[in-house]
Amino acid sequence: MFTVIVRPALFRLSRRDPEIAHHLIMRQLALAAHLPPLLRIIAAANAYHDPRLAREVFGLRFPNPVGLAGGFDKNGRALAALAALGFGFVEAGGVTRFPQPGQPRPRIFRLPQDEALINRMGLPNEGAAAIAVRLAHTPRPVAAREPRTRIPIGWQLAKSKVTPLDEAVDDYLFSLRKLYPFGDYFTINVSSPNTPDLVRLQERAPLAALLGAVVREAARLAGPNRPKPILVKISPDLTWSAIDDVIAVALATGVGGIVATNTTTDRSGLHHDPGEAGGLSGRPLAQRALAIVRYLSDHLAGQLPIIGVGGIAGPDDAKRMFDAGAALIQIYTSFIYQGPGIIKDINRALVRAIASREPAFASEREESLSHE
Ligand SMILES: Cc1cc2nc3c(=O)[nH]c(=O)nc-3n(C[C@H](O)[C@H](O)[C@H](O)COP(=O)(O)O)c2cc1C
Repeated sequence: MFTVIVRPALFRLSRRDPEIAHHLIMRQLALAAHLPPLLRIIAAANAYHDPRLAREVFGLRFPNPVGLAGGFDKNGRALAALAALGFGFVEAGGVTRFPQPGQPRPRIFRLPQDEALINRMGLPNEGAAAIAVRLAHTPRPVAAREPRTRIPIGWQLAKSKVTPLDEAVDDYLFSLRKLYPFGDYFTINVSSPNTPDLVRLQERAPLAALLGAVVREAARLAGPNRPKPILVKISPDLTWSAIDDVIAVALATGVGGIVATNTTTDRSGLHHDPGEAGGLSGRPLAQRALAIVRYLSDHLAGQLPIIGVGGIAGPDDAKRMFDAGAALIQIYTSFIYQGPGIIKDINRALVRAIASREPAFASEREESLSHE
């Protein structure tokens, strides 16, 4: 139904500016997030449950390993509805210390021949303080308390555009303090190509200073409890030696995992390049993201979990990501093109792979069974 009716209507309505479709969908989802009966109907129609899909990663229990990548629900307004659609976890944000409008519109471009998007959103969001106030005053939706639709929520933190690079650490710490009570994990975004110079925070020294400070602050905020995991999200445009630096810093600072990857500025292999600036996502990113996950997995040798993201457009891509060493995966662009059905498609295929004991999934099976 999504690809036959909903998508054509939405895409036609938002031909000039694809962001219109995004806001229309977000408004519906945000509304649904406050209507428990509707959430139950959405969950009954979409969510796919099988205990064999559950897994424990960085100390959190995920009902299934297919998450929504950062940037879709920037202000965390539709989390319960996204859970009802069947995601195993959602990364809300990216959130910055200061509210910011992002780049002028249009700033999202569809590349249907490539099942890809180019975006230069520039992290528009309400700002960490305002989001925290709203979350504190919003009763937790009933559905979010029900086991079947309770999923881990990550908050992704980024640097405000107005903050100079050498003051970035304080910016991230501010957002972490504000949002700490509302997340299960936090991802440090140093890889958005649309905030000037942000990617320079991936260099060894600034990354060590940033991640070290954030991990220490999470431990302080946790008090006697176990600190919530801090992840770092990297760019697909890093060289292998830069990735070696990220690995070294991640291990030294005690982050909980690595999210790979963000969008790319590379345009090779496109059927049609519209010549728009921004980050490219979707199918053309798949090979590079997969290669990076494989490289990370080989070099980390199980010391840190990896969330694989980039160009996953169906069950086969998802399986390749797990084969490459991802513990969890995230999708964004394929969710836009294919609708929520893709979550169920991937999860169903994973269950089949687990049931037939395909090598990459045999261990997950044992792990998931041991938690039942
Ligand atoms: C419109 C749009 C907005 C995005 N916003 C963010 C963001 O705020 N933070 C971030 O880390 N990644 C952001 N991303 C990148 C995605 O989280 C993801 O890493 C990337 O799109 C690759 O996955 P995909 O090929 O499944 O889309 C955005 C992507 C798109 C298409």
